[in-house]
Amino acid sequence: MDQAFIDNVYERLEFERARKGPPDAFPSLPPIPGGRYTDPDFLALEREHLWKKSWLYAGHLDQVPEPGSYMLWTKTGSPILIVHGRDGEVRAFYNTCRHRGGPLVKDDQGQVRGGFTCGYHGWAYDLEGNLRGMRDRRDFVDLDFSCLGLVNVRCERLGNWIFINEDPEAMPLLESLGPIPAQLEQFDLDSVRHVHSYGLEVACNVKVLLDAFLEVYHLKSIHQDTVDRFLDHRGTSIFLWPHGHSLMVTPNRRPDWVDPGTRGMVDFPNVTELPVKTNLSYNLFPNLVTPVAGNGMPFLTFWPKTERSMVIECHWFSPDWGEGERHELWDTRIDNFHRILLEDTQFAPQIQESVESPGFRGIQLNYQERRIYHWHEELDRRIGIERVPEHLRVQPMLGDLVE
Ligand code: FES
Ligand SMILES: [Fe+2]
Repeated sequence: MDQAFIDNVYERLEFERARKGPPDAFPSLPPIPGGRYTDPDFLALEREHLWKKSWLYAGHLDQVPEPGSYMLWTKTGSPILIVHGRDGEVRAFYNTCRHRGGPLVKDDQGQVRGGFTCGYHGWAYDLEGNLRGMRDRRDFVDLDFSCLGLVNVRCERLGNWIFINEDPEAMPLLESLGPIPAQLEQFDLDSVRHVHSYGLEVACNVKVLLDAFLEVYHLKSIHQDTVDRFLDHRGTSIFLWPHGHSLMVTPNRRPDWVDPGTRGMVDFPNVTELPVKTNLSYNLFPNLVTPVAGNGMPFLTFWPKTERSMVIECHWFSPDWGEGERHELWDTRIDNFHRILLEDTQFAPQIQESVESPGFRGIQLNYQERRIYHWHEELDRRIGIERVPEHLRVQPMLGDLVE
């Protein structure tokens, strides 16, 4: 993150604090149709064109640390096997035997030696997904081993973070993320360590909860005793980027404020002052939100379960702490943040009931909630606007504000 960007952020924070209304050029945003959260046809389009065709966070290298380590990842509905190869590369395949679809692995995580053997009839594959052997080969006619390797899934990394995309034609991960990888370099991405992961099921459509993490308008109501005490939402400054990504910078009320629950924890050695003096929260479209700090960060990932239920996962990462156990404050830090997450989820089931009721006439968004509108504009682009039923479309309004 260069100094020019940091200076620009400080100028914007001042501008936002001082303004009396939205900037003149800011448009009035039409309501977002509630059917986007409930209509089965729309949600089917979303499944096909968003979840099956986006770069999605799947795991950290620490979860597949050495050759032969694997994890089974099923968040898009497809069974995907992520494997650390002999050459150090992490690859992904469908966990789908080329004979008749038997699973190569059944556990969520594990370790194999040379490769995988299908439990159904014993076809064997190496760690790179090549078919290496089978029983009774004499009974197959004209079988070409070279065409019967496991089917690859796109798997690319941002530092130690592993992302999956089921779209074979997708733009490379780092290119699709625009300015984000360069801004995150200050966190020494090749040495970030995984601390802890857990998930929480919430009874709402996935977007109901995701929306809540794209704005700070709610701080004074639902985080009065937590986040609102140290963040000044009136200074919040927002960057909208191509492909739906965005950044929200919220200044600390006091520039020298330090979270007492993290005091003494190790900092990333090359971190700039911005994540220390402000709260930087990135949205890596579609479903990864990360408020990055000088001494570590959570990845919040949002997953549809059914049309009316979702799972929010919280993955914690730390700067490399060297030998020995992680810092003793980590448990407290995770608990404190969890309490904030519960504040955020408290209304979600009732909001879902509301969006399904005749009383719901659309989502009215203001200037400081514009990341939500930006997100929905991108969703329609991903689905293909011509496929979205007219009454559920979001009219493109923010194009001029994308940087
Ligand atoms: S399904 Fe895998 S060997 Fe038959
Ligand atoms: Fe919140």
